Amino acid sequence: MAERLNSFDQTINKNCVIISYMKSGKIVVVGSSNMDMVVKTDHIPVPGETVLSGSFFMNPGGKGANQAVAAARLGAEVVFISRLGNDIFGKQFSQLFSEENIETSYLVSDDNLPSGVALITVDKEGENSIVVAAGANANLSIDDINEALPAIAEAQIILMQLEIPMNVVEYVAAYAVSAKAKVILNPAPAAPLSEELLARIDILTPNETEASMIAGIPVNDIEDAQKAALLICRKGVKTVIVTLGSKGAVICENNRCTRVETKKVLPLDTTAAGDVFNGALAVALSEGKDIVAAVRVACDAAAISVTRLGAQSSIPYRNEMILNIAINKQ
Ligand code: RIB
Repeated sequence: MAERLNSFDQTINKNCVIISYMKSGKIVVVGSSNMDMVVKTDHIPVPGETVLSGSFFMNPGGKGANQAVAAARLGAEVVFISRLGNDIFGKQFSQLFSEENIETSYLVSDDNLPSGVALITVDKEGENSIVVAAGANANLSIDDINEALPAIAEAQIILMQLEIPMNVVEYVAAYAVSAKAKVILNPAPAAPLSEELLARIDILTPNETEASMIAGIPVNDIEDAQKAALLICRKGVKTVIVTLGSKGAVICENNRCTRVETKKVLPLDTTAAGDVFNGALAVALSEGKDIVAAVRVACDAAAISVTRLGAQSSIPYRNEMILNIAINKQ
């Protein structure tokens, strides 16, 4: 791919935004691909309840794919490692990733299981509930990773989530240490993490629920989030960023915590906001931003995504971030 935008810094000169072009490092995303089947309705049904009246749409999702697309749209060189079903969704995903300029050489087509599917309900506040049928994602294997080692060896940043088998996440993290790549793990959906894995993670990005599970304490407010992050750091993670939705994020490293606030927006659908946050964080760090500045970029990108419906359909492009910054500075 030609030269990419390398710095989110720009000079705003009257109506003109000047952006600097430099090359950024490679981001390798290892994770899931799902087709999201979404119903937007008034409220999320409780068990046994049928909610009548809602609108349906389908759009590509999956935490891994969403993070890969976010990083690519925001200007990074992205390699995506994922298992797709040998079916219509798998073929669509592969074509869409190519159209996003994502390197697709390490996508694997699975002959035994269908593509992953997520059934999502979004209520009028933009909150969601999600059930995932993992399908081919559950078959992502260490052999698949071994095939992709040339790409992983060249990565500046490796970004993973937990919709793929845990042994694969652990294997990649172990390899990343020897390859001197930075590992960002978005521990979603929540799952117990081994001490060996935590010790190999450079940046862990739990939300409040995930932070609570990993730290073993309740997380109900910003103070709890800081306590949880510090406890997780003590388990060996270098940097912990607890994402707090409309309250921004808390960053903890070297026994110190910093709060980053986010823009207030009217949420339409919060699906994939965490994925956009992680993709944008990886891009900003790959371009040399410090952690606080990178989290600001990540919050900005996530704030745009929650004003739109869907997962990949909601992910902003780099020029939208620049326009957004320009509008906010006026
Ligand atoms: O994080 C949002 C994603 O979670 C959705 O796209 C859905 O596929 C599930 O994986």
